[in-house]
Amino acid sequence: MTTVITVCDTCRTEGTEKPTDDTIEKDGAKLAALVEAAADGNSNVSVRRHSCLMGCQGGCNVALQAKGKLTYVLGRFEPNSDAASGIVEYATLHDKSALGQVPFKQWPAAIKGHFVTRIPTLDDTDK
Ligand code: FES
Repeated sequence: MTTVITVCDTCRTEGTEKPTDDTIEKDGAKLAALVEAAADGNSNVSVRRHSCLMGCQGGCNVALQAKGKLTYVLGRFEPNSDAASGIVEYATLHDKSALGQVPFKQWPAAIKGHFVTRIPTLDDTDK
């Protein structure tokens, strides 16, 4: 099993104006491409794109999920390689952890200050 990184491919970096030209690549798509490249060959993670995670005010946004583990949503990223590497490094640690909880001292610097929500795992007793 892997940790799945879902990258919003329609996000704009927080505080930027909406492009007037639809042919301009969106910041989310740029970040998605960088995350995909950073994850290439990493068997601990997989990457998918999704258009809008409903956190548009704080883009660029990503979500990390794995069956039986905590889910995390992170945002306010800029589409650069440091962010992409940090997201993939954190997702790798998430995958290697038992329940998705990575000790703070192991967090990559690039993801600190970017957490939006943590969602608990559903268990067999949840309806
Ligand atoms: S466009 Fe990315 S969360 Fe809405």
